[in-house]
Amino acid sequence: MYLDNAATSFPKPEIVYEAVLHAMRDVGASPGRGGYRQSLEAGRILFQTRETAAQFFSVSDSSRIIFTQNATGALNLALHGTLNAGDHVITTSMEHNSLLRPLYTLRNKGVEVTIVPAGHDGVVSVEEIRLAMRANTRMIAIGHVSNVCGAVQPIRQVGELCRDSGALFLVDAAQSAGYLPIDVESAAIDLLAVPGHKGLLGPGGTGFLYVAPHVQLKPVIQGGTGSHSTAEEQPLVVPDGFEAGTHNMPGIAGLQAGMEFLLERGVVALHQHEQMLLAQAERTLRGISGVTVYGPSDSRDRCSVLSFTASGVDSALLAAELDHCFDIAVRAGLQCAPLAHRTLGTLPGGTVRLSPGWSTTREEIAFFSGAVVECIDKIRNSA
Ligand code: ALA
Repeated sequence: MYLDNAATSFPKPEIVYEAVLHAMRDVGASPGRGGYRQSLEAGRILFQTRETAAQFFSVSDSSRIIFTQNATGALNLALHGTLNAGDHVITTSMEHNSLLRPLYTLRNKGVEVTIVPAGHDGVVSVEEIRLAMRANTRMIAIGHVSNVCGAVQPIRQVGELCRDSGALFLVDAAQSAGYLPIDVESAAIDLLAVPGHKGLLGPGGTGFLYVAPHVQLKPVIQGGTGSHSTAEEQPLVVPDGFEAGTHNMPGIAGLQAGMEFLLERGVVALHQHEQMLLAQAERTLRGISGVTVYGPSDSRDRCSVLSFTASGVDSALLAAELDHCFDIAVRAGLQCAPLAHRTLGTLPGGTVRLSPGWSTTREEIAFFSGAVVECIDKIRNSA
């Protein structure tokens, strides 16, 4: 049973597999690299996926959607593509290494970085972010939903801070895209980093960055774009100049199908389904002696994941037992977010994290709950 949708969603809706196969078997060609039928068809799929992504996040001009390999690629482009020595960036202690590591690299090149600590529930205070602002604050970069504990951050209020100060607002939507409705304009988001393979139900190796029209972005990869071929400099035209090299067309076609599936089912309806499953799991977990659930106490302030520890039980061992004895896939450890674990008090062992998906059922969560009880008993009894 797969309960690690926060890492990568699985299974995908059937139309996603069909779209991947169609792109590979029937289309085959690269978009923008030829005037023949197959290349034009690939271009149509690429354009349609951009249009659907724009519709999904209320973006008015789909050329502002730049395809990347994943959210990490989108975050690297957003950070390396906008920040210069002397700029100040504010981020938080709840971030994933995909945001922190590019920032650490940029810090070595003269970018000033402030990491605002979140509360013990994983929620960041807007007032603390406001107090960290300086005259040279060029960007506030924040994950919408914590991949460790599911804490939903107050991005609207942070967006207002950015709108008032002129700082760029970068939102890492790795754990929220496809789970929560996001409207880039009303949330004042200048840069939105989105994975294709998680909540949007696309294949691995897909993602994109939304870049608002006023943002001056530098490309971080140089190469062929299918246009401006005599120019020695990388063309700055969006999106082509920022998507050098051959696109992942099977992935992009699958992503289009994943987003279509979500639009048809409704993000809000699927979110309610997943919240109901998380609440069911939480009720069992809270009933087990020595189990701690992390994140905001009100489950409405959490989304997509549930992280817990059991006293006297190593998280990695518990996850391994769930896998070996019950074929249940959950992610244990630090989930690539060490500062978030320091904030929550779960260093060094981390947590066990479950993340149901669109196809997870109540029966599966009941099975998971029973398996957790058994595995915890087994580990404690063998200690
Ligand atoms: N960032 C993904 C996770 O949290 C991979 O599991």
